[in-house]
Amino acid sequence: MKPLEIAKGIYWVGAIDWNIRDFHGYSTSLGTTYNSYLIVDEKITLVDAVKKEFADELIERISQIVDPKKIDYVISNHTEMDHSGGLARVMHRIGEDKPVYCSKTGYKNLTKHFQQKLNYQPVEDGGQLSLGKKTLVFMETKMLHWPDSMFTYDKEDKILFTSDAFGQHYAGPERFDDQIGEAIMPHAKKYFANILLPYAPLILKLVQKVQSMGLAIDMILPDHGVMWRKDPMKIVKAYVEWSEQKPKRKALVIYDTMWHSTEIMADTIAEALVEEGVHAEPMHLRSWHRSDIMTVFPTVGDILTYLKGLKPQNKVAAAFGSYGWSGEAVKLITKELEEMKFKVVDPGLKVQFVPDHEALQACRELAKKA
Ligand code: FEO
Repeated sequence: MKPLEIAKGIYWVGAIDWNIRDFHGYSTSLGTTYNSYLIVDEKITLVDAVKKEFADELIERISQIVDPKKIDYVISNHTEMDHSGGLARVMHRIGEDKPVYCSKTGYKNLTKHFQQKLNYQPVEDGGQLSLGKKTLVFMETKMLHWPDSMFTYDKEDKILFTSDAFGQHYAGPERFDDQIGEAIMPHAKKYFANILLPYAPLILKLVQKVQSMGLAIDMILPDHGVMWRKDPMKIVKAYVEWSEQKPKRKALVIYDTMWHSTEIMADTIAEALVEEGVHAEPMHLRSWHRSDIMTVFPTVGDILTYLKGLKPQNKVAAAFGSYGWSGEAVKLITKELEEMKFKVVDPGLKVQFVPDHEALQACRELAKKA
């Protein structure tokens, strides 16, 4: 695949990972991309590298534009290995003495990732680097989503290189938002929910900061998925909306089941929620091969642990389930939900074995409390 000119003198030289299906626990059913950008000015600059396995692809794409040895500067917006794994190989081709600009925490993290001694140049928040006609400005974005994360802003072209933020795990023929349209938004939303949700309050502060700086943004170039050129503010507005986590009349009825009893309860609760005007869907977390935990299904334990890490806010919840003997699961799930500061609207509904008419009526009553 050829490199792609995005703006005058700015090229996408990244890689497409068509086949990845599990990105450190995130299911990437359509693969992903590792976006890397080459800025050709008086000083030639590479913004971010790619995953180790794709380093040769990156070098090949750069070589179609310039001899990699002619690159003067490298920017590392983020240390995580999907962007820095290929750095050692790339620097070997570029020249290991060339400066690698990164945040101060990026410097610490990069030196703890790689034995190789590189010419790291930690930058200040707001620091600038002249490339000739273009000037880059560095913006610390701590915890979005790592302590080392930063954005790089090209003042003349009004382009914001945002590392992981505003990305999507999506591999496809499209490189830009206008080529795929609205279909990219579910991927962007899933990415936000799994990567950035815990840092939602920081996102709101960052957007305020960018607005107060009066930065004009013509394009947002993230390190994953399509680039935002038609309407970059669309994804910024979406991030604000997702970060605010305003409650909506939506519900997921999450369950696992042995012999369909909890499934019947889940379906009934979902149906009753719909009757109450709530957009509700039952969601079955089946994973039968891990079934040897005594009280809570492993899949339910898994989703609770996962949720805990993502710190969702302003959510209403209640636990339910069918049990056989002691029926501890509902109580344990309720406790977990309370600890996560969900508004628990019911102490929990448990039914022994198969739910009867009366139990299903209780499911309906439970749904009305949402
Ligand atoms: Fe795409 Fe946090 O790495």
